[in-house]
Amino acid sequence: MAKTRFVETHEELSVLAAEKIFSCIQQKPDAVVCLAGGDTPLRTFDIFIEKTKHHSVDLSKITFVGLDEWIGLDGFDKGSCRNTLDEYLFSPLNVKENQIIFFDGKAESTEGECNRIRNAINRLGGLDFILLGIGENGHLGFNEPDVPVDELVHIVTLDNITRESARKYFSSPVNVSKGITLGMKLILSTKEIVTIASGESKAPIVDQIINGPVTHKVPASLLNNLEIAEFIFDKTAASKN
Ligand code: GLP
Repeated sequence: MAKTRFVETHEELSVLAAEKIFSCIQQKPDAVVCLAGGDTPLRTFDIFIEKTKHHSVDLSKITFVGLDEWIGLDGFDKGSCRNTLDEYLFSPLNVKENQIIFFDGKAESTEGECNRIRNAINRLGGLDFILLGIGENGHLGFNEPDVPVDELVHIVTLDNITRESARKYFSSPVNVSKGITLGMKLILSTKEIVTIASGESKAPIVDQIINGPVTHKVPASLLNNLEIAEFIFDKTAASKN
């Protein structure tokens, strides 16, 4: 069974999540680490950056893997997943390009891009740590409800809830209908999984994850079966419990 922790505030959640990432890289200085974009982890990144600077941690052997990207966008598009990670994590930490494995949502061949990322992660022996957010529909990365759970890396047609929530990341409207993402098979095989949710908009889905069945209709619920998985919910996200 996964562990579930309830905390009062988004700040507390962020401190705990940052400690998890920090402890992973301290134990394994050449860890392969995947950190979700989105709004929820941004404060976690700040705290993590502070911690690494305070302790003068050498991150030069860490590999950072991207979780997902909107098809049609890349790191030069403000609000894309890569752009968010660049701004809030990679640039402040001075992470070198050769330490980053990230989807190019503008790649000519999306299948080729899936293969490139799949092979790169395979060569590294899989992921040591992943920090996930949860979509309002229960998605992890872009693994929407009902997507196949036996994929390592794949292209997904985004559902309406995800397209709708995309608006918050972009200052002008973008037309996104597909995403490229690490698949559930790869995510679930990660050695340590930390999943965070904050805010009232997440309360209904968090309620389903806590009290509902384990089902691919709610991809985040699949984490419930894993010993190595931990959820951290703040008071607003857990307000229906
Ligand atoms: C987005 C991304 C996910 C992210 C999740 C939650 O659509 N595809 O990688 O973790 O949804 O995002 P947020 O933290 O902004 O609520």
